[in-house]
Amino acid sequence: MAHLAPPIDIGIPANQRQEIAEGLGRLLADSYVLYLKTHGFHWNVTGPMFSSLHAMFMEQYTELWTALDEIAERIRALGHLAPMGGRRYAELSSIEETQQAPEALAMVTELVKGHEAVARTARGLLPLAEAAEDGPTADLLNARLQIHEKTAWMLRSILEG
Ligand SMILES: [Fe+2]
Repeated sequence: MAHLAPPIDIGIPANQRQEIAEGLGRLLADSYVLYLKTHGFHWNVTGPMFSSLHAMFMEQYTELWTALDEIAERIRALGHLAPMGGRRYAELSSIEETQQAPEALAMVTELVKGHEAVARTARGLLPLAEAAEDGPTADLLNARLQIHEKTAWMLRSILEG
């Protein structure tokens, strides 16, 4: 016999849980589009920097792939469904998909912009999480900010060399 799940009662009002979940949905979409871009660049990078960029992009897409799960599962813990499907992610994302591979340094430039865009999305959500005393979401956002800002710096350094 099925039992009804009790309503969620974690101390965050429903409207704030919804706003935060929607923001996390946009962060999930941004991270997914950046993941796809980075994995595609890993496959298609060419030129004298092939070896180092191919390896660097692999580290980056692996990290993004892991982050997708953490973001989506935080949405579920807040009582909402995680957005699904590539088309939905393209709609929700602040980052444009890449369908053609540019040359190596243009890839790096595009990834700098991508990581900065995800950082802006995460930072925009931080005041909502803090206002709701949603520590787990704030921790997740701060962890994502640290990664995206660090990765943007590393990629930017290639262009400044
Ligand atoms: Fe590979």
